[in-house]
Amino acid sequence: MDLISLTYVSAARLPLSAQELQHIHAHSQRSNRQRDITGALGFTGRYFVQCIEGRRGEVEALIRRIESDARHSRVLLLDSETVTNRRFGEWSMAYVDSLALDEEVACAYRAGIPSKQVAQVLLQKMAAALRPGESLHSLR
Ligand SMILES: Cc1cc2nc3c(=O)[nH]c(=O)nc-3n(C[C@H](O)[C@H](O)[C@H](O)COP(=O)(O)O)c2cc1C
Repeated sequence: MDLISLTYVSAARLPLSAQELQHIHAHSQRSNRQRDITGALGFTGRYFVQCIEGRRGEVEALIRRIESDARHSRVLLLDSETVTNRRFGEWSMAYVDSLALDEEVACAYRAGIPSKQVAQVLLQKMAAALRPGESLHSLR
């Protein structure tokens, strides 16, 4: 099976209410479960950072839908790679309250260039936030 992992950052269309964010998250979980997509969504208060994992066709179709979503703009693809294992395999879409990542995500967004290295750092931090005892607040 051709499994890929894709990471992007984007700017939220502000203001974004807590309900709207919750709605995006709940819809993503439902829809991803049906498509065997897993991943993590972070929101810094200004920017989104998201990792999407799954079969190539499903992930590519989803990123096209996400790119045309008016609730954010300028989706910057940081990295897309073929993987053997999922990093967020336990979550249909984990939510990470990424306030602490704001500066890093803002920097990646403003730089405007894909970077595997930046993607890896952001993903490691989001994954760490999902482990019990870490300082960033997270929800399954
Ligand atoms: C930041 C952000 C992340 C999103 N993540 C997902 C996702 O992981 N899965 C998903 O199905 N939709 C996600 N969406 C919603 C899609 O952009 C789109 O609204 C949805 O896929 C449309 O689904 P439908 O055709 O099933 O109604 C996201 C939207 C935003 C703004």
